Amino acid sequence: MAAINSVTDLVVEDGVAVVTLNSPPVNALSAAVRDGLYEGFKAAIADDAAKSIVLICDGRTFIAGADISEFGGASKGASLFDVQTMMEDSPKAVIAAIHGTALGGGLEVALTAHYRVAVPSAKVGLPEVNLGLLPGAGGTQRLPRIVGAEKALEMMTSGSHVPAKAANAMGLVDELVEEGKLREGAIAFARKVVAENWPLKKVRDREVKADPQVFADFRKANARKFRGFKAPESNIQCIEAAVNLPFEEGLAVERKLFIELMTGPQSAAQRYVFFAERAANKIPDVGDDVEVLPIKSVGVIGAGTMGGGISMNFLNAGIPVKIVEMKQEALDRGLGVIRKNYENTAKKGRLTQDDVEKRMGLLTGSLSLEDLADCDLIIEAVFENMDIKKDVFGKLDKIAKPGAILASNTSFLDIDEIASATTRPESVIGLHFFSPANVMRLLEIVRGDKTSKPVIATSMKLAKTIGKVGVLVGVCPGFVGNRMLAKRQQQAQALVAEGTMPWDVDRVLYDFGFPMGPFAMSDLAGLDIGWSKETSKGETIRDVLCEMDRRGQKTGAGYYDYDENRTAKPSPVTEKIIADFAAKSGVNARQADDQEILERTVFPMINEGAKILEEGKAIRASDIDTVWITGYGWPVYRGGPMHYGDSVGLDKVLAKLKEYQNQHGDFFKPSALLEKLAAEGKTFASLK
Ligand code: 3HC
Ligand code: NAI
Repeated sequence: MAAINSVTDLVVEDGVAVVTLNSPPVNALSAAVRDGLYEGFKAAIADDAAKSIVLICDGRTFIAGADISEFGGASKGASLFDVQTMMEDSPKAVIAAIHGTALGGGLEVALTAHYRVAVPSAKVGLPEVNLGLLPGAGGTQRLPRIVGAEKALEMMTSGSHVPAKAANAMGLVDELVEEGKLREGAIAFARKVVAENWPLKKVRDREVKADPQVFADFRKANARKFRGFKAPESNIQCIEAAVNLPFEEGLAVERKLFIELMTGPQSAAQRYVFFAERAANKIPDVGDDVEVLPIKSVGVIGAGTMGGGISMNFLNAGIPVKIVEMKQEALDRGLGVIRKNYENTAKKGRLTQDDVEKRMGLLTGSLSLEDLADCDLIIEAVFENMDIKKDVFGKLDKIAKPGAILASNTSFLDIDEIASATTRPESVIGLHFFSPANVMRLLEIVRGDKTSKPVIATSMKLAKTIGKVGVLVGVCPGFVGNRMLAKRQQQAQALVAEGTMPWDVDRVLYDFGFPMGPFAMSDLAGLDIGWSKETSKGETIRDVLCEMDRRGQKTGAGYYDYDENRTAKPSPVTEKIIADFAAKSGVNARQADDQEILERTVFPMINEGAKILEEGKAIRASDIDTVWITGYGWPVYRGGPMHYGDSVGLDKVLAKLKEYQNQHGDFFKPSALLEKLAAEGKTFASLK
């Protein structure tokens, strides 16, 4: 075996040259990998003993794409196009042998091979859209030429990873080889190609046809999903080019649109988010050497909105759950909701009835906390009340086995105070799920003063096991997410109290990219959460709305009026209440403009994020961004509030906060950290 460079080997076996890449962790197309491929193929082509060439990777995967960490830097080494041209123009058949994932540039390299083989567990895809990009190495022109325009539209705008079997069915993979025998299988395939004199098929020489209506329909069907994002439309335009233009001209369209996306703010934000999510896993004082406890059974206390959703996460991962309620009726209701959720998923074809029964078979209900004695992890999701929570934890302390993790799903309460109700605060942690708990990706993991490192390490690992993004945060009211949300809510309310209409606040935040504005959200959730008829004194706009039985969508009216299809319309009733309120409180009612609405709702969040960093309640700014992207619908193409602050410029954010502080008081007082960073011309991202 000859080493081509530090990451590439070449060996000729039975007349087949095998080029092997080994560049952990994911064989991304770094400069060294591109050089290795270029030189490896050149040597294989020059070697008379080789009649065909196999490209295969060591480690856990085929090539997972371009090296994202190199983006934006000076380009070095062979270009990807040089490598692809060498492969495609090779006078000897080139076969790509795929295991793990062939993604992005990885699949684009495979598409310049003459044939592709894969093991059944492999997956292929062009996920660039999720980085705010499009496949920039000919993938937009080659993929449709193999799978057709419709499948290419689906794959490229969703970024989905297609299993090898489906890829084989659509012609993207020529042959499946036995699991674990990729090398032998690929070599045998290569020998067959030579022995039977198969043609050197170039994907670029194929043709793809599609009716223009296909594109119009696709755009229409996905308008909501793509709202705000630039990359999906660029991907679509490239596929149109593949259909309408010769290959080289299509490539030119791809290049132009790729550069536009790559140099734009959306892709910068989305690439930042990719690394932010992965950085969140790294806890400076909890290294890989910290013991991870086995979690083989889970107890959940409370079968309400959250308890039910939380349980489903574990059932989905095959971990048995015992769920405890106070009364049989509540238990039956909770178990019923879980079953109904699964049945609905099955109706949509996303689960089999067998899967539903398997999951339900892992779930048991009980009315006694004692039944949780053998659980490795117990998550409390009872009412948000400190006395009740302390009572539950005091009891758990006596019941749970030694070493069990005792977690609370509290949204706001002090984890240290909850832990003080036990004799084992080191075992207590916050596991803050977001509603709906079986859907939302975020898990805020709240570290108490005394929480042990193994309990933290286990919780972080557990987040991955159940498909969540775990972010470690410190104890403070509302932790990271709700603490910052409270600032936005406060300003939304203040704006309305001064005379701005709720639908204008909602529109600005919706246009910014949130799925919904705060008032539409209140109407959906119900305005009467935390409101009581007996004590209401008409002191706020919400009080008045509730007193008029405008309690949100469920009563047909709230801030908005609703028709029978639940379509929201601005309400003259609400408008009058707001005007009356302003008059009563002596405010000169005024409508804030869009810029003011955005700045007054979003900049205080950035400021609060800075305070959270100052106080050490989040490890890094990117963790705060991950919380907002995965838990609160912050538009991913704006990278999270801290990244957004950096991109606006912290000096500008600071200046605006000071301006609003002068007008509206110390709510807007800038944090010391923000003052410091702005003075030094630095960003939150620079705080490593
Ligand atoms: N470039 C640089 N680093 C990468 C990378 C890439 N394309 N893909 C993964 N990594 C790094 C991760 O940052 C992580 O590093 P860390 O351990 O230091 O945090 C490490 O590899 C392992 O990654 P994961 O933790 O994500 O491992 P998983 O096993 O969970 O997932 C994966 C593996 C499915 C390959 C996933 O990493 C992934 O989706 N990667 C990105 C794939 C992608 O988007 N490819 C397209 C790139 S853009 C492109 O190709 C442009 C082209 O068209 C020109
Ligand atoms: P819920 O009212 O829907 O459910 C609470 C359930 O706990 C009820 O079914 C109740 O009967 C049961 N319960 C109360 N005391 C109990 C006890 N001693 N033993 C056993 N069961 C008991 O409330 P929800 O919304 O599920 O909230 C639960 C917790 O989750 C709260 O701490 C809340 O702050 C938190 N949370 C709620 C979110 C939401 O959006 N609803 C989001 C994130 C956290």
